[in-house]
Amino acid sequence: MSPIPVILDCDPGVDDAIAFLLAKQLPQLNVLAITSVAGNVSLEHTNYNALGLLEFLDWDIPVYRGAAGPVFRKRVEAAEVHGSNGMAGYDLPHARSEVEGVNAWDAIHQYALEQQGALEIIAIGPLTNLALAFLKFPDLPQLIKRIVIMGGSSDAGNATPAAEFNIYADPEAADIVFCSGVPVHMCGLDMTMKALMTPDELNQVAALGSKQAVFFRDVVQDIVRFMSRLGITGINMHDPAAVLYAADDSIFTAYPAGIRVETKGTITQGKTVTDLFSDAKWQKNGFVAMDIDREAFVEKVFELMSKY
Ligand code: RIB
Ligand code: CA
Repeated sequence: MSPIPVILDCDPGVDDAIAFLLAKQLPQLNVLAITSVAGNVSLEHTNYNALGLLEFLDWDIPVYRGAAGPVFRKRVEAAEVHGSNGMAGYDLPHARSEVEGVNAWDAIHQYALEQQGALEIIAIGPLTNLALAFLKFPDLPQLIKRIVIMGGSSDAGNATPAAEFNIYADPEAADIVFCSGVPVHMCGLDMTMKALMTPDELNQVAALGSKQAVFFRDVVQDIVRFMSRLGITGINMHDPAAVLYAADDSIFTAYPAGIRVETKGTITQGKTVTDLFSDAKWQKNGFVAMDIDREAFVEKVFELMSKY
């Protein structure tokens, strides 16, 4: 089966960085381009980190600069989790390449036209770029085959009790994407909180010996310490799990669902309201991943990281 043409829309971000490591080694994905967006930290940092990660991985694909903040709201960030530079203070190599002269939403449309309906989007940050692309290009929904996001939750949130960070950061953008007509596969906290790697497993990855494998273990240590204060031993691999889902969903369990985003609530803004079986019988505009075979996930991570 020929590899899936994808754009990776991201806000690196420590777990975004791990997603880069895996995405480069996944034969099922043909990552055509990276689009950066403000999220975990400002666009300056997420864009710089995207370029630096590609340099570190010697990965020659273009980066397109995206939105510096949400469509309507004030920008929020997660520097307390990812560090002020978004990379846990890790100093990535200075990239030789620069961002392309086209912005992210125009690039998404351009690639969608070129791929003639086969393009898929993997979005692991706030959905601002994709929403702006849908607002600017009415023909775009017919040109994108599928959207896989890390975001949302049918149950509890992490940014607030109701909302997961990527959706909370730009609820209006997320609702535009869920209403676009393109099927959205939501890899939310229901599943990603189970995509946990333990400190021992992280050390086993580092023991593979490559600079990328050691980076994998080292760059997540601040988050491991942050999670231990929450009583969780290890790190939830949110973005890597979404990328793996996009490549091969055989180790995941997902159900058709109607999904909308609360944009009016005060305490519930950013909640992904997920209709699996209610009497409301919402139109099934997507799928929600509810489970993962964690052991198979970790085995896959080792297999991919062994390729470096
Ligand atoms: O809630 C986790 C998500 O928010 C991940 O994508 C992480 O990188 C942050 O963007
Ligand atoms: Ca992210």
